Amino acid sequence: MGFLFNSDAARGAVFRQIFARELPDLEFYHCSENIDSDKVRYLLTWNVPDDVSRYRNLEVLFSIGAGVDQFKPEIIPDHVKVVRMVEDGIIRMMQEYVVLGVLALHREMLAYREQQRRAMWQALTSPQTAERRVGFLGLGMLAHAAIDRLKPFGFPLAAWSRSKKLVEGVTCFHGEDQLAGFLMETDILVCLLPLTEQTRGILNARLFSFLPTGARLLHVGRGPQLDQAALIEALDGGRLAAAILDVTDPEPLPEGHALWSHPKVMITPHIASVTQPHTAALSVIENIRRHRAGKSPIGLVDRTRGY
Ligand code: GLV
Repeated sequence: MGFLFNSDAARGAVFRQIFARELPDLEFYHCSENIDSDKVRYLLTWNVPDDVSRYRNLEVLFSIGAGVDQFKPEIIPDHVKVVRMVEDGIIRMMQEYVVLGVLALHREMLAYREQQRRAMWQALTSPQTAERRVGFLGLGMLAHAAIDRLKPFGFPLAAWSRSKKLVEGVTCFHGEDQLAGFLMETDILVCLLPLTEQTRGILNARLFSFLPTGARLLHVGRGPQLDQAALIEALDGGRLAAAILDVTDPEPLPEGHALWSHPKVMITPHIASVTQPHTAALSVIENIRRHRAGKSPIGLVDRTRGY
């Protein structure tokens, strides 16, 4: 029985080496090889192959990314466990990016970039961190990790999640009823939600209308969560002061799209956090060990919830 790596050869080579050392009894296949599909018990992939049902003995389907929204659940047999990527590299990079983004928004870096473009030397006033409230939409593992790194700066921290959660030092809101209250007290909004039918288009005109005037957005969730026209309107009308987007829909945006050149927007090409093969291989191996021992894998997706 074996493990099928369905992604690029460079990362596959790293996985192969670590698997050979850590799980020598498990055969390792790369998608470029000729394989007996009956031997595949574990599959690591970004997209679910259309012919996934040919892996009749598949038990666990691992996403190579932190999200599983790209998977088509209807073609995954019901008994197959779906696991998203939880690994140190992704977590660390997301911590870096969120701290970078929040500080850039807090210290007016987008406005200074625009001033530089015009050769303007002018100090802007910024509140102290104690007066800049940072709120997370989504309170999963990545948000937790980012919040930990932000704590020393002294921003008042809040988070909103679908179900009730408690985190020390963070004002927690949950459920539809508490969303507006959360937004009204958020100066920098960090979106770290998974993409589901409930979160598609959640960053829309109504949501922006609850934020204080001059609020900022750091979007590290998924592109389809954002209503781009509503964002442009909120920026142009002054409701929002700036936005940093690491995800868009589509990716990349078409040439000439208004967001590319918007003075209050900074775009990065979905690089906030990227699966690192060394640490990812170890975390997949740990999950295979857990699965073999009858334990639940870390990052197991609730298939009815979608994340
Ligand atoms: C990136 O967005 C990922 O899902 O890892």
